[in-house]
Amino acid sequence: KASSGAVRAAMITAKFTGKAGTALDLVQPRGGSLDRLVLIGAGKISAANEHDWVKLGGAAYSRLSSIGDSVVLILEPEGVAVTAAQAADVALGARLASYVFDRYKTKKKDGESGDKLSKLSIQVEGHLAARKAFARRDAVADGVDLARTLVNTAPNHLGPPEFAKRCEELRDVGVEVEVLDDKAMSKLGMGALLGVGQGSVRGSRLVIMRWKGAGGQPLAFVGKGVTFDTGGISIKPAQGMEDMKGDMAGAACVTGLMHALAARKARVDVVGIVGLVENMPDGNAQRPGDVVTSMSGQTIEIINTDAEGRLVLADALWYCQQRFKPKFMIDLATLTGAVMVALGQENAGLFSNNDDLSAEITAAGKATGEKVWRLPLSPEYDKMMDSTVADMKNSGGRYAGAITAAQFLQRFVNDVPWAHLDIAGTGMGAKANDINKSWGPGFGVRLLDRLVADHYEA
Ligand code: BES
Ligand code: MN
Ligand code: ZN
Repeated sequence: KASSGAVRAAMITAKFTGKAGTALDLVQPRGGSLDRLVLIGAGKISAANEHDWVKLGGAAYSRLSSIGDSVVLILEPEGVAVTAAQAADVALGARLASYVFDRYKTKKKDGESGDKLSKLSIQVEGHLAARKAFARRDAVADGVDLARTLVNTAPNHLGPPEFAKRCEELRDVGVEVEVLDDKAMSKLGMGALLGVGQGSVRGSRLVIMRWKGAGGQPLAFVGKGVTFDTGGISIKPAQGMEDMKGDMAGAACVTGLMHALAARKARVDVVGIVGLVENMPDGNAQRPGDVVTSMSGQTIEIINTDAEGRLVLADALWYCQQRFKPKFMIDLATLTGAVMVALGQENAGLFSNNDDLSAEITAAGKATGEKVWRLPLSPEYDKMMDSTVADMKNSGGRYAGAITAAQFLQRFVNDVPWAHLDIAGTGMGAKANDINKSWGPGFGVRLLDRLVADHYEA
């Protein structure tokens, strides 16, 4: 208040109107005792939805992060009372924006002070309610951070065994964890998954995570965890191949989600399954022309060893429904380049045999800003996966590549309500935005946490 004259004057001079994404930084404004005052544009706050509040928190954090000291963020949009949930959303956005992956940086760049915001306090009416609302968001953000770090980690540091070990750490938050190795999977007849991993010197793993926050039929989430995808014998071009360290983003999401649900003690029974393999070319690698037998008994002709994610998911999905009889199965996979051609990086591809589940996922996507867009399934597309020598082939060619991949998966789900999210465009290589500066954005954790919270908790 003491500086309001100086602030008004500065706003006029700088033409600062409070548009979203803008800010005005005032050092020692005349009239008061403030060292520094940063005005953050919030846009039309009366029209803001939940995700806008989260983004506002992220934008505020970015403006304040270079200030090394502790900062108080005062939420005072003109004429609008801020609710506990909105304040907590701002805090969530700030937390998500604060994530940095610098594990491999041993030196600071020239000109980097290394100062980071030491503490961000938020001043708001009813802070106890806001703090309570933040606690569950904080748990979810822990899950997002975990998923981001798994995706960002270098592939020599994170093969299937190391990934499985990271899953086992979820025991600390109360998740039950089982790990199957090559031998155990071989006994179960998982020839599709094992065929992908057989060219790697690293073992393959299937990890089963369980959070029992309630009784009843479990919900199931299944993730593709190809810790590195060279393409195998159908090898990928060198250009950009390093990005294939992120080909486990589906598994990272499932792991982060399990962490989030357990940490916030969600009242629900959930199974998370991740299929972990490394796809390498080798004297022992599988060949185009090979025929493998999946756990379901169905045989698959390998046309292209680079269409490996669906082979991993085929056995993981089959195992999941046979063992757990889940209420639904949702799988996440960086499955096809084709989905990026169709939807870019703005929407994940959604495929489902169930309109209700599909609508729920779409709504959760809108609420969290992790958007999905449904694409069709039909018998004509399914037919494109028929093989002349086996029950099916693993590649249907270039046309409708994201859809035929989903049709392949559907041959392993029977009548279980099922949705497949192709996150090749959204799960890695993210453009920086208000709430994420990381290459691995942790896509799907907030989306699926929201789906569970809105429809499936006791
Ligand atoms: N992991 C890739 C898909 C991918 C591509 C994810 C780019 C993220 C960025 C997947 O295993 C793959 O190689 N798919 C092939 C399938 C084809 C051989 C039928 C593709 O999309 O080209
Ligand atoms: Mn591939
Ligand atoms: Zn892949």
